[in-house]
Amino acid sequence: VSSASTKRRYAIIGAGMRARMYVDAIIGEHSDVAELVVLADTNPERVAAHTEWMLSAGAGAPSPEGVDDVAGWVRKHAVDRVIVTSPDVTHARHVVAALHGGADVVVEKPLTIDASSARDIARAVEETGRDVTVTFNYRYSPRNSTLREVIGSGAIGEITSVHFEWLLDTKHGADYFRRWHRDKSFSGGLLVHKASHHFDLVNWWLSADPTRVYASGGLRFYGPGGGGRPAGERPPRGTVDAEGRDPFRLDLRDDPVLRRLYLQAEAHDGYLRDRDVFSEGISIEDNLSLVVDYSSGASMSYSLNAHSPWEGYNVAVNGTLGRAELRVVERAAVGGADNLDPSYGADAALEGAVREAGEHLVVQNHWAAAREVPIVGGEGDHGGGDLRLLADVFRGRAEDPLGRPADWRDGVRSIAVGIAGNLSLESGGPVRIADLDLGISR
Ligand SMILES: NC(=O)c1ccc[n+]([C@@H]2O[C@H](COP(=O)([O-])OP(=O)(O)OC[C@H]3O[C@@H](n4cnc5c(N)ncnc54)[C@H](O)[C@@H]3O)[C@@H](O)[C@H]2O)c1
Repeated sequence: VSSASTKRRYAIIGAGMRARMYVDAIIGEHSDVAELVVLADTNPERVAAHTEWMLSAGAGAPSPEGVDDVAGWVRKHAVDRVIVTSPDVTHARHVVAALHGGADVVVEKPLTIDASSARDIARAVEETGRDVTVTFNYRYSPRNSTLREVIGSGAIGEITSVHFEWLLDTKHGADYFRRWHRDKSFSGGLLVHKASHHFDLVNWWLSADPTRVYASGGLRFYGPGGGGRPAGERPPRGTVDAEGRDPFRLDLRDDPVLRRLYLQAEAHDGYLRDRDVFSEGISIEDNLSLVVDYSSGASMSYSLNAHSPWEGYNVAVNGTLGRAELRVVERAAVGGADNLDPSYGADAALEGAVREAGEHLVVQNHWAAAREVPIVGGEGDHGGGDLRLLADVFRGRAEDPLGRPADWRDGVRSIAVGIAGNLSLESGGPVRIADLDLGISR
């Protein structure tokens, strides 16, 4: 069989930072089963940048397309699958158009940012009978998979409640306040954009659906009136020739990828990737607290902080037979100079640190000593999740005992909590998920 005839034909919509992971997978590890035939974006310069990188890696160039007639170019190029990596607010319209054009869809989280567009996706899936995969890479992190195994094994009994705390540090967390994510109408805020990962994990760990949400929160550290704002005048963006440099200022000239993808593309759409985190125009929260009820009878207290000195998360799962605790330190501290490095990866090695990067899963049954459950490690980004996820996306698998591959229904369940949370922030009262009419009952 010639490999060319067995390759699936892919298109990517949204040629930004996240698209790099999919492009690399298609021209690298999975090039025997996939080829990229279309790259679409509103900004031709970013398409040109990816195309240059592909050519220099020895791959062929995809056809550049716009985003207005997705169904048309899906048919024209006989695209089998469309990967959507555009800003969150645009996901639904591209998913719907790709399905109607005759392609299956792989869409980044969050599936979409509000209830009416979730219903649009549901209708398009029903009308076309096609497939939508939502790429929840966090499910594939070995530590998260291991917690699922522990809960699924019945080791801690029936789950009664969950306490979940997520900390984004002044490097990664701050970055949401520079980019399009800072505008809630683009991202749904961190409750939808970021926490949909976390709420998906809880739905999956508990095999339950959220039923009611109460949320409280606000913008308290970033923004023009934020408590974290250093004294003095601030330039409106990071890429400026100015005196002094504080750790909140990101200069796109410091990094070849940021420079090429964003600085060199500004002429086409005026998008600034490096807005000052204390400037006007931020409509998302940086501190969030939620109480969520689940169909199983369990409840969750959840908190998200986006200006923490370290990054990671703590999850405690209480059950009728005991308790499981997952403690993860992804970055133990953000050093001053380290913060100016635009990659999120490196851990600052600070002298005399008592907190270290690492992960621990501890299970304790009633009347027994706590025991550590080994987590078999992974490599790659997002706790080892990305590489495993990509293998599933591009090569598929017959059956996963952990049920990690996620479809559009899981995507809707994951954004349900954030959408309800945003409504609760507005109204000040609890919101019943059933009232959102998302059609997600199991
Ligand atoms: N799962 C994860 O861990 C993870 C990590 C990063 C990003 N993401 C997701 O990937 C998506 C893209 O994020 P990013 O960081 O690459 O953002 P980005 O800003 O780097 O890229 C977005 C791209 O979309 C383009 N675009 C703008 N308007 C568009 C439109 N109407 N139609 C199509 N394209 C349009 C922009 O020009 C840009 O090239 C987001 O939905 C984000 O949530 C997921």
